Amino acid sequence: MVSLLFSLGAASLATRVSAAATSGDFNILSFNVAGLPAILNDNAVPGDKATNAGIIGDLFTEYVYDVINVQEDFAFHAYIYATDDHPYRTATSGTAAIGSGLNTISNFDWIDFTRVKWDDCSDASGADCLTPKGFTFMRVIVSEGVCVDFYNVHADAGIEDADEIARASNLQQLADYIDTWSIGNSVIVFGDTNSRYTRPLDKITVFQTQNSLTDAFVELERGGVNPTVETICDNPSLINTCETVDKVLYRGSKQLTLTGTHFSYESSKFLQSDGSILSDHNPISVNFTWAVSNSLRQSGFWGGPHGAWFNDIQSIPSSPKTSVIKFSGGSRLDSVAVTLTSGATFTHGGTGGTATSLTLGSAEYWTSAKLCQAQYNSQTRNFYILATTSTGRTLASGTATSDCTTFTAPTGYQIVGYMGQDGDEIDQLAFIYAPL
Ligand SMILES: *[C@@H]1O[C@H](CO)[C@@H](O)[C@H](O)[C@H]1NC(C)=O
Repeated sequence: MVSLLFSLGAASLATRVSAAATSGDFNILSFNVAGLPAILNDNAVPGDKATNAGIIGDLFTEYVYDVINVQEDFAFHAYIYATDDHPYRTATSGTAAIGSGLNTISNFDWIDFTRVKWDDCSDASGADCLTPKGFTFMRVIVSEGVCVDFYNVHADAGIEDADEIARASNLQQLADYIDTWSIGNSVIVFGDTNSRYTRPLDKITVFQTQNSLTDAFVELERGGVNPTVETICDNPSLINTCETVDKVLYRGSKQLTLTGTHFSYESSKFLQSDGSILSDHNPISVNFTWAVSNSLRQSGFWGGPHGAWFNDIQSIPSSPKTSVIKFSGGSRLDSVAVTLTSGATFTHGGTGGTATSLTLGSAEYWTSAKLCQAQYNSQTRNFYILATTSTGRTLASGTATSDCTTFTAPTGYQIVGYMGQDGDEIDQLAFIYAPL
């Protein structure tokens, strides 16, 4: 299902480089699995909920979706995981009243998984405040140096005014989080928004206007025009043009083109043997293609998911070249900086440590960086960096550990900036590459 294309220049056959994929595709599924205890809500789904959950897990395995976000995965979670066989899956946050019902099932590994509870809820209709609903965040590693920020969401339900006000607050909270934690990154939000474009009080358009996300349904089934007249989908839905509250929204980034190629209600695949539905929601699927940019790329990450997110990629000028590399360190890595020939300087981390710097020649490029991590106060952060240039000169800072990795710019590329998470030291770090 995951296909990867490799572009290998003639030079790379001679000079050993790791051949990172430069384009590929994947697909996703969003499914509200109606897993509240039957005594709270039978969801008007025939049959036994535990049996149905086992069938859902079986179908996740059979159709091998690359990343699946489920909502209302409460009382029958174990039955889904018993029959699903994806390699990466979130640990449940608990059943109804304890957990959010949000889980992710994936063919790809991820970093930085976070669960966030909504600030507001409304019991005007339904019992949304019964359980701590919210959203989850994870940075999915689709391929080497290909990262996409995935959000799973379950917003407040109901159509009383108080419900819509709570839901608008939920959607705004998520939009603001994306603005802070996904600066410069590709994003896919998919889940149960409980919203329709025909419910203006919800302000679901916040993702389009504030975060520059594209709704895959609107793009691929509605000619790019948000619905203005309510359409209700059958379940199972045999058409893809009706609007449901379950949504997929996405954007690419300067380093990665992301394109939605196919939207569908997968309802006919998710049925009991007698043809009955398995959930009161239609599952929705979107196929994506991706391609790394030729002008800016990124490395993988090293270190731990602590501190604030930063990303230089938005500020890197055209035709960048590093002129000065500057680090500060001591027992750990306090800060990293880079000055480009344009004069732009990017600095991250704190003010401690001993400063050291290296000024590059006009034909000298920063081509690789070794990072070492370890734990400090029970949290992983970067302890050491070693930069190497195209002429073999080096600059090191901090204290090496036994847990290290080296990121090398692709052939014909150099390091020109950073992304990651920092506080008064460098918790997590990745490098931005640009052509020589
Ligand atoms: C979407 O992706 C799935 C899984 O790779 C594939 O089976 C299906 O043919 C794709 N659909 C389209 C229309 O590309």
